[in-house]
Amino acid sequence: MPGFTTTSAATHSPLLLFLVFITLFHFPIWVSTAATHQELVSGFRASPDTAVQSFQPLLNDPTGNFSLGFLRVQGTQLAVVILHVTSSETIWTANSSVFPDWADRTLLRFDGGLVLSDTDGRVFWSTDTAGDRAVLLNSSNLQIQLRRDPAVVLWQSFDFPADTLVENQNFSSEMVLISSNRLFSARLGADFIGLYAEFNEGKSQIYYRHRALQAKAQVIPGGGPVHLLLNTDGYLGMYQNSSVPVDLQAFNTFQKSANGFLRLRLDSDGNLRGFYWEGSEWVLVFEAISEQCELPSPCGSYGLCEPGSGCSCLDNRTIYTSGQCLPSDSGDFCGVGVAKSEFWVLRRSGVELPFKELMSYRTGFTMDQCESVCETNCSCWGSLYYNATGFCYLVDYPVRTVVAEADGTKTGYFKVRKAQARSKSKVGLEIGLGILGGIFGIVVAILGFASYRQWKRRRGIGRFFEDDDGSVSPGPYKDLGSASFKSIEMGSGFSR
Ligand SMILES: *[C@@H]1O[C@H](CO)[C@@H](O)[C@H](O)[C@H]1NC(C)=O
Ligand SMILES: *[C@@H]1O[C@H](CO)[C@@H](O)[C@H](O)[C@H]1NC(C)=O
Ligand SMILES: *[C@@H]1O[C@H](CO)[C@@H](O)[C@H](O)[C@H]1NC(C)=O
Ligand SMILES: *[C@@H]1O[C@H](CO)[C@@H](O)[C@H](O)[C@H]1NC(C)=O
Ligand SMILES: *[C@@H]1O[C@H](CO)[C@@H](O)[C@H](O)[C@H]1NC(C)=O
Ligand SMILES: *[C@@H]1O[C@H](CO)[C@@H](O)[C@H](O)[C@H]1NC(C)=O
Ligand SMILES: *[C@@H]1O[C@H](CO)[C@@H](O)[C@H](O)[C@H]1NC(C)=O
Repeated sequence: MPGFTTTSAATHSPLLLFLVFITLFHFPIWVSTAATHQELVSGFRASPDTAVQSFQPLLNDPTGNFSLGFLRVQGTQLAVVILHVTSSETIWTANSSVFPDWADRTLLRFDGGLVLSDTDGRVFWSTDTAGDRAVLLNSSNLQIQLRRDPAVVLWQSFDFPADTLVENQNFSSEMVLISSNRLFSARLGADFIGLYAEFNEGKSQIYYRHRALQAKAQVIPGGGPVHLLLNTDGYLGMYQNSSVPVDLQAFNTFQKSANGFLRLRLDSDGNLRGFYWEGSEWVLVFEAISEQCELPSPCGSYGLCEPGSGCSCLDNRTIYTSGQCLPSDSGDFCGVGVAKSEFWVLRRSGVELPFKELMSYRTGFTMDQCESVCETNCSCWGSLYYNATGFCYLVDYPVRTVVAEADGTKTGYFKVRKAQARSKSKVGLEIGLGILGGIFGIVVAILGFASYRQWKRRRGIGRFFEDDDGSVSPGPYKDLGSASFKSIEMGSGFSR
């Protein structure tokens, strides 16, 4: 009886609105209960449902713990993800360089492989396979299979991790984990795992390196690449051609016969963290970097991190607010006709670089020499001089957070880019346009006021829309829509 429903909804709409409002607030993830599948076969088509606020499941694993579906990103865009259903934690994201719109014209189809495209034929992501079906295993691994006995796997999501590894997932030297804000990545070297920051276009700076300890087995040089495996027993193992690990990083659950579920994620602050699902929540069981100030940029650009007491600014005239001291910069000072005037210099003693052991340095310098090497090199953003040893470290990326140190013999020299000086003619043009705009505005205002008075006189109504004090009162529901619906965002993964 659609007619009845409509009438009743209309009569009770304020109450209904209130209920919807409350529901959305208490259950941040509004999972639609549309039909989901256990496998996807040729002919499968799905488009996002405009009514779904956050996640639309399409394919479930046999246990129902994991689900492949559409996730809303930044309100209006769509990502194909695998979610841990109970916690709404994103385990995997299909790598598309651009996220399509959450709109009818976006389509996910299966015809031998999964393809995400729009009705104009633009392809955002494709598995490029000719398989019989797509299934989601109870490990959270999405596979495209040929129906054989046993099934032949043509493609699997485990081979294309996003920012997360789950237990029993191999991480090889060809793979890379990328944090959801795309600032940090994790890769394997010949005998180590490294974490890298994209502080400057095209250059990545290593900020964490864990070498294999080789307690149980040796890394054989030239003996092939190493790989990682998140072991169910609670450790991150590194292996080379053998099941005996060359390295073992124990989690808190190690040897505790725990049978929950483990995942490892490269977080948006650059740390690599392990979590354990103990049935109702994720418990932190591993952290690659345990000291806050050793993270790649905990206090943002030109920030100063003091172990145990938090963030302040390198420039002591600036107050640390909203996560940074100066807007983050990029590039260098190497353009044509740019020289000293492009930057001003900030000096501070009692500071050091957070991961200096991973940065190159020069020795035998005086402090002046160290500074001048940086000053004259247009790709240098700063230098740190260690008076006791004569070491000179050069920073070739826009300055991030440095660490405060009680020892005042370490001195930092930092370039700060001047606000872009605009050319005189351009400034003149802008002033001219501004004056013109101002005149136009005044004319419009005068005309508007004149016609308003005329209209008021004709209608004979006075100060109807104004309060007694003359101020115009805004409607009571002014910001309801924007404020409430913006807060229904997924906490994980796509915060930035
Ligand atoms: C993701 O896609 C981009 C662009 O398509 C590509 O450059 C990048 O290597 C991909 N990343 C991974 C992890 O596959
Ligand atoms: C997951 O699937 C594998 C093989 O299909 C099975 O052996 C295992 O018991 C399953 N695990 C769970 C938790 O269902
Ligand atoms: C991980 O790698 C090992 C050794 O290469 C292999 O035996 C195992 O099947 C792989 N696991 C997965 C899930 O691909
Ligand atoms: C998977 O489902 C089982 C049964 O409901 C539950 O005990 C287990 O905690 C779930 N695992 C995860 C990782 O959610
Ligand atoms: C700020 O730093 C400058 C230069 O290091 C120093 O001379 C000045 O005393 C400092 N001011 C405060 C308030 O700490
Ligand atoms: C300038 O600094 C960069 C990065 O530190 C370095 O690679 C380059 O060789 C330096 N150039 C000169 C001319 O010293
Ligand atoms: C640096 O070292 C020199 C010689 O060792 C010493 O004379 C000077 O006082 C030191 N400067 C600082 C700031 O510690």
